[in-house]
Amino acid sequence: MRIPLKYLLPLLIFITGFFLVSLQTYLYMHDEYSKMLGKSFTQAKIVGNRLASHIADETRNGQILNRKIASLTAPYMADTLDQVGIYNHKLELEFSRHIASHPQDKKEIFNRAVALKVAQEQFSDLKYLKEAKHIVGYFPLDLPAHTGKVLSKNTGVIQLVFDISTEYEETSRTIIKNALMNISIVTIMVLVFSFLLYYFVLRRLNALHKATSKLIQGDFSVHVHSKGNDELTQVIHTFNTMALEISAYKHTMEEKVQYAVNERAEQTKILIQQSRLASMGEMIGNIAHQWRQPLNALGLIIQKIEIFYERGKLDKENLKENVQNASLIIDNMSRTINDFRDFFKPNKQKEYFLIKELVSNVMNLLEAGLKQSQISVTVEIKQPGSLLYGFKNEFSQVLINLINNSKDALIERKIVDKKIIIRAENRDETLFIRVEDNAGGISEEIIDRIFEPYYTTKEEGKGTGIGLYMSKMIVEENMHGLMRVENTDQGAAFSMIFKSDKE
Ligand SMILES: Nc1ncnc2c1ncn2[C@@H]1O[C@H](COP(=O)(O)OP(=O)(O)OP(=O)(O)O)[C@@H](O)[C@H]1O
Ligand SMILES: [Mg+2]
Repeated sequence: MRIPLKYLLPLLIFITGFFLVSLQTYLYMHDEYSKMLGKSFTQAKIVGNRLASHIADETRNGQILNRKIASLTAPYMADTLDQVGIYNHKLELEFSRHIASHPQDKKEIFNRAVALKVAQEQFSDLKYLKEAKHIVGYFPLDLPAHTGKVLSKNTGVIQLVFDISTEYEETSRTIIKNALMNISIVTIMVLVFSFLLYYFVLRRLNALHKATSKLIQGDFSVHVHSKGNDELTQVIHTFNTMALEISAYKHTMEEKVQYAVNERAEQTKILIQQSRLASMGEMIGNIAHQWRQPLNALGLIIQKIEIFYERGKLDKENLKENVQNASLIIDNMSRTINDFRDFFKPNKQKEYFLIKELVSNVMNLLEAGLKQSQISVTVEIKQPGSLLYGFKNEFSQVLINLINNSKDALIERKIVDKKIIIRAENRDETLFIRVEDNAGGISEEIIDRIFEPYYTTKEEGKGTGIGLYMSKMIVEENMHGLMRVENTDQGAAFSMIFKSDKE
């Protein structure tokens, strides 16, 4: 369990205050009762000794009468003295008197053993009876030998009983009054102290704590107000400065990151363009291959027209048929040119496109070159309606890179039955595209490095080493897919995996 400081500290102060007030009250109570008892004992002793000596004086002048003793004790009776008993040497009661106003307290309390001891040893003895709130005192009577009637032998005992319940109650009242006052004072002190503690320390600590939590959650606009010039204010000022600095630092960091991101995006774009231009030469070769056959066909048509004309066989029907054939061929050639031109145009927007269509476009571009190198390409697209989302031309370039790499490997390693297989398949929400060849694969020593920029095993002028780097970047960063390579029994296989949910 965690108690917040703002409750814990006042609670501790309260507990300490309570403990101190209890201790003080206990000590004060003890002290007051002892004082009260001490006073009562002294008074009792004075009364006892004085009575003893009065009685001794009176009896020296002759016999003392009960009447005389009564008048001697009378002044004390009104006060606290409650009971007087005078005993002779045999401890027989010679004189006794009870105060009339306290009839309920008139119990005879006479301790013979104590009385005997007092009479023999001539010492006074005083006891406090806590229950009854009484002081019982025994005082020795020292009498001359010739005493008269009342105290026949020369020794005796005076027993006095003082009722101190009134004093006791008074003391109790004082103690209660005092304790209440102490409690009030301590309570007020605790309240005032707690308030001051809260106002000057805890409140500001709390604000600081809240601001820190906000700061952790990323709110850098926090500011804690604090007046004065104490240590806490200094801490708060330091905190404010720190928050400001962090905020400024975060701002510059964000700018830097944004700058780096932009720069990287820009560089990626440039790289894509560069790599595309690099393949341009290869592409022009492809166009040349692709045009060779139609150009031949066109030449043949023109020759045919010429021969027909020379032989005078060129009628309108004949000419029309040849012109139609020539137009078909020219249309085809111009489509090839358009395909190449489209490929070099960068896409502005991401879009959905059919894999089937894209693969067939790419095949159109590369077909002639592949055929020339005697490479057979198999395309297996499981679901003809499979769609992919992204920049169409960038992805075309990925396929071109992969096919060109396979082509290079197949030619370089002089594989007899050169094969490239392109597969696409939708499984659950995932689209798998795989390009594999039978060129023997990539050695384990370099397979981890082939996606690095500028990593190539090809000689100068034949490879830049950015093809796979670019391809992976396009697949993983621009299209949020994955690109992996593995070796099969036959050669290398590059897989691309895309989640088919929208971005
Ligand atoms: N299908 C493959 N079979 C064997 N090795 C391959 C294959 N694909 C790539 N490689 C190896 O990976 C290396 C890097 O390929 P990458 O396409 O990045 O660069 P490149 O083809 O050398 O140059 P370019 O920038 O012109 O594409 C190649 O040099 C080659 O050694
Ligand atoms: Mg390459």
